[in-house]
Amino acid sequence: MRDEPVRLSHVEAVATRSEVLAVTVPVAEAEALVAAGWLHDIGYLPALRQSGFHPLDGALYLRDEGWPGTVCDLVAHHSGSRFVAKVWELTDELRTFEFVEDASSDVLTTADNTAQQDGSFITVSKRLREKLARHGPTSPGALANPQRDDYIRAAAARVRRRLRTLGHSDPYLH
Ligand SMILES: [Fe+2]
Repeated sequence: MRDEPVRLSHVEAVATRSEVLAVTVPVAEAEALVAAGWLHDIGYLPALRQSGFHPLDGALYLRDEGWPGTVCDLVAHHSGSRFVAKVWELTDELRTFEFVEDASSDVLTTADNTAQQDGSFITVSKRLREKLARHGPTSPGALANPQRDDYIRAAAARVRRRLRTLGHSDPYLH
């Protein structure tokens, strides 16, 4: 995971999914959400490496570059990174970014977990199984379970409920 290259096709798909699901967030928050979709994995870039933990490294870089706090916080905490940070012993460092559980953080986490590495879309359940198989049972992400995957599934369920309230549905939120 530490050396995983940035997958532009995945990033583009996450941005697309963020745009589609942004209907569930307040209009004023949609721009920051989509920006975070594009930027969420930037911390994988070797040139930006500080801790080796990509959500933290990406957020640190974006903060240095003057990106809005909302974007930095979303990137820092996407996909339940706080559970993985415990495994990395980087909880204190990650806490310099605020974790907010709201409609935008739910969408970013859901978008990240319904977009595969090759840019195709996939259900949350299949994506979580695919990540476990790719990274292995002793990876930091796997060791952060069940909390991390439970959080991701719960975020997707909340997005599904918000979509239903709006009369929309999405085939990947299960
Ligand atoms: Fe991602």
